[in-house]
Amino acid sequence: MKLTILGGGGFRVPLVYRALLGDRAEGRVTRVTLHDVDAERLAAIGGVLAEQARDVSDAPAVTATTDLDEALRGADFVFSAIRVGGLAGRAADERVALAEGVLGQETVGAGGIAYGLRTVPVALDVARRVARIAPDAWVINFTNPAGLVTEAMSRVLGDRVIGICDSPVGLGRRVARLLGADPDEAWFDYAGLNHLGWLRGVRVAGRDELPRLLADTEALGSFEEGKLFGADWLRSLGAIPNEYLHYYYFNREAVRAYREAARTRGAYLREQQAAFYGSPSLDSWHATLAEREATYMAANREAAGAGARAEEDLEPGGYERVALALMRAIARDERTTLILNVRNRATLPVLDADAVVEVPCFVDANGAHPVSVAPLPLHAAGLVTAVKAAEREVLAAAESGSRETAVKAFALHPLVDSVSVARRLLAAYAREHPELGHLA
Ligand code: G6P
Ligand code: MN
Repeated sequence: MKLTILGGGGFRVPLVYRALLGDRAEGRVTRVTLHDVDAERLAAIGGVLAEQARDVSDAPAVTATTDLDEALRGADFVFSAIRVGGLAGRAADERVALAEGVLGQETVGAGGIAYGLRTVPVALDVARRVARIAPDAWVINFTNPAGLVTEAMSRVLGDRVIGICDSPVGLGRRVARLLGADPDEAWFDYAGLNHLGWLRGVRVAGRDELPRLLADTEALGSFEEGKLFGADWLRSLGAIPNEYLHYYYFNREAVRAYREAARTRGAYLREQQAAFYGSPSLDSWHATLAEREATYMAANREAAGAGARAEEDLEPGGYERVALALMRAIARDERTTLILNVRNRATLPVLDADAVVEVPCFVDANGAHPVSVAPLPLHAAGLVTAVKAAEREVLAAAESGSRETAVKAFALHPLVDSVSVARRLLAAYAREHPELGHLA
């Protein structure tokens, strides 16, 4: 079984490899090919993986290449975890929006639109090459903005591309812990788009336990989403929102905190990662990861007075566990249920069949099949359809190169509050990113 990792020089790749090292079962991944456009980053991560494999017998063999077609040849699974423009690009996405007084964030709001405009053409190229060179491969997309990028790739690959995110799993794990339930035994009624979903019910042995949690102010105050949103707001919603909804429900506070921060998240990570890639080792990778996890969404937590992250949440395990479970289910028909980004079909009736949504899916050797969920309440349907409309303009702008369509993508996003702002954003992003120059 061959796994190709695009963005193979990326910082989170050792998490995936660590998960592979723990998989001893028949039919597991035996060969890993790392692809990256940056040979130095490839070498750095290759060295970390070699350290990880040192004392493990039968560790999956690792090769690395900067040639995309060569990397794809013979792949059974392709993980796409690329970052177009690198962390410098992310920092620019964040900075330009904040300078306009709107949210500057990796995947949400203006920053996410800019990142999408930059990434969709690259993701489409990858999808076309997969279709040509490894037509039977399954593509697991982590590349952000994951929902939008998965939808772009699905136009080429259909249901052979599946998007993943660790945030719904993290939410489910935290809520299950509070309820004293085993997350593997609970059914999570979660639905929406990537980074824009709500947990509306948690069924344990057929009973919805979420009302019990919503009634318990002390329990609500003790976990990440409770601290971010406050018990009263969670009760008003009757659901637990994905942590990324903090950018919507507390937009002013989040924008203020982001503007007041010494540097954006992207700028901070750029410095942090430069130090790591300057002298990479497994030890420094561990230390760097711990620091990265501890500071995740720090500005939001500060704005909410939420304090530090809980010890249990610092342990990573989201991405790679979802990715591995997904591969096992497909490759070995180990049937399971995972929250994934797939084409909607008729799951959320407010969206059309081809819209990529984030919902629980039944996964088997034939792929991921969305499971029917309760309809979204009107407020959630409103946000989901508005954001999907903005995403569709991104896809259209990437295809046509039309400036008007790109302006529309920014202007229609619920977190961009004026068409004039949208026009200025596009002009500023086009100055920052040469690949968007044609849209200016
Ligand atoms: C979560 C999200 C990812 C996102 C990451 C950002 O894991 O699910 O989609 O990329 O956070 O973390 P970072 O450390 O890069 O700010
Ligand atoms: Mn995510």
